[in-house]
Amino acid sequence: MFVCLGNICRSPLAEGVFKKLIIERNLQNEIAVDSAGTSNWHVGDLPDPRTEEIASQHDVQLDHRGQQIHPEDLQTFDYIVAMDISNYNNIRALEGFGENGQGRLIMMRDFDELGKEKDVPDPYYGGANGFENVYKMLLRSCTNFLDHIVKEHNIM
Ligand code: 4NP
Repeated sequence: MFVCLGNICRSPLAEGVFKKLIIERNLQNEIAVDSAGTSNWHVGDLPDPRTEEIASQHDVQLDHRGQQIHPEDLQTFDYIVAMDISNYNNIRALEGFGENGQGRLIMMRDFDELGKEKDVPDPYYGGANGFENVYKMLLRSCTNFLDHIVKEHNIM
């Protein structure tokens, strides 16, 4: 599960990019993907039009409505992938994180060879350039993250 603040920019784009990579490798039956926000501000909303635009430019399909991360998600998903350190800290503060969340929570750019330990910056208040930048980070990170999952779980 990919997580950002609003679930209308970064995390639904990460979900779309990751799903595309999964389909390219024919792993649809092995890996389930979703995304959520730490806030409830955009529950039920379609992705931001700028997210839709950058996705369509790169042949990425978005099929998502905003939802807020729920403590149960910490049990459902093997990996909870935070876009930035503020999302990371908010996820750590969820009820039951200590029992269920430890070892599942990672940062998206842990898998980006060009920016380990950095945030995927929030593009919401910036221009279209910010979205292209985010897309490139997500493509690098998701590609390496999928390699990591395949190895760790011995998926053919
Ligand atoms: P996201 O971007 O966390 O990447 O979805 C944002 C979306 C909405 C807001 C902030 C960030 N907002 O303030 O409504």
